[in-house]
Amino acid sequence: MREVTLIKGDGIGSEISDSVVKIIKAAGADITWDIQTAGADVVEAEGTPLPQRVIDSIKKNKVALKAPITTPIGKGFRSVNVQLRKELDLYANLRPCKNIPTVKTKFDNVDIVVVRENTEDLYAGIEEKPDNDTAKSIKIITRKASERIAEFAFDYALKNNRKEVCVVTKANICKLSDGLFLECARNIAEKYPQIKFREILVDNCCMQLVQKPEQFDVLLLPNLYGDIVSDLTAGLIGGLGVAQSANIGVQASVFEAVHGSAPDIKGQDKANPMALLLSACEMLNFIDEKTAAEKIKKALYKTLESGVKTADLGGSAKCSEFTQAIINNLGE
Ligand code: NAI
Repeated sequence: MREVTLIKGDGIGSEISDSVVKIIKAAGADITWDIQTAGADVVEAEGTPLPQRVIDSIKKNKVALKAPITTPIGKGFRSVNVQLRKELDLYANLRPCKNIPTVKTKFDNVDIVVVRENTEDLYAGIEEKPDNDTAKSIKIITRKASERIAEFAFDYALKNNRKEVCVVTKANICKLSDGLFLECARNIAEKYPQIKFREILVDNCCMQLVQKPEQFDVLLLPNLYGDIVSDLTAGLIGGLGVAQSANIGVQASVFEAVHGSAPDIKGQDKANPMALLLSACEMLNFIDEKTAAEKIKKALYKTLESGVKTADLGGSAKCSEFTQAIINNLGE
């Protein structure tokens, strides 16, 4: 039996992780959960939002499913998500965005994979306030991390039968930092003549994405643009409630929904567990529980087709009702 670390998160985290755990159990996947707590709830008792036991558990199990964790804005502790990515060197953030059956959006031809560099850029957390009226953030881009993520994107494209990798930067303005990211992408592109290579500036990319998303295949971005653009692509397929993601490293991988802890709907049984469920399906594929993953996706689509949806998708089902409907559809 395979052990997987489960971080239940806060806000809507515990509601959606309970839902996903129930569905995975009902689908018969051969896994046990090593449940770990992190975030604001553990700061007082343990002095840190990300205790070493959480890191140790993920290192031991090599795979984790993580529900969202709240980060205080403008003050307080550093994002647990950012710390986890740094500590475990989860260098590649992978966000596939493909239309989901029955989830109606403005477009029905979206099939984009966002590959986001996950360890540096403005997320390096190097900030200072030389005086009360000035603040500085340092953007770090290295050749090592840029080449590694470009290699990941091209390798992913090759293994998953994708046609093109498009690198997204603002190299006309950030000439040195984004310029280096672009240079690395160009160098790696030469090793993959089978995959088309394209370059675009991030502002134009956003405009094109909301007009003609079908033109894009794999997008390769530095950390900050990747964060923003992947929320945009999530919007193209139905919003944050359906967008999945994986943080991949050499030693460990952490699967999570794109969305945050949604404090506005916390504890109301309204949250859509689908994004975490789809991320969990990717995790099941990753650990070779492919049959369970397939079964869950089928049951999920059947549930949506029957009209059972949560409020964010225009339905009236509660999180618990949606969960039960998926479980009921597993056997069919
Ligand atoms: P959010 O993603 O939590 O919420 C944005 C909007 O989408 C809200 O109206 C919310 O109700 C809705 N929403 C999100 N997930 C939903 C779901 N599963 N079902 C239905 N509706 C959903 O973003 P926000 O409000 O900017 O962030 C809240 C907190 O989450 C912040 O502390 C932020 O730092 C944290 N966060 C954590 C992430 C993580 O743990 N990976 C990722 C993004 C944000």
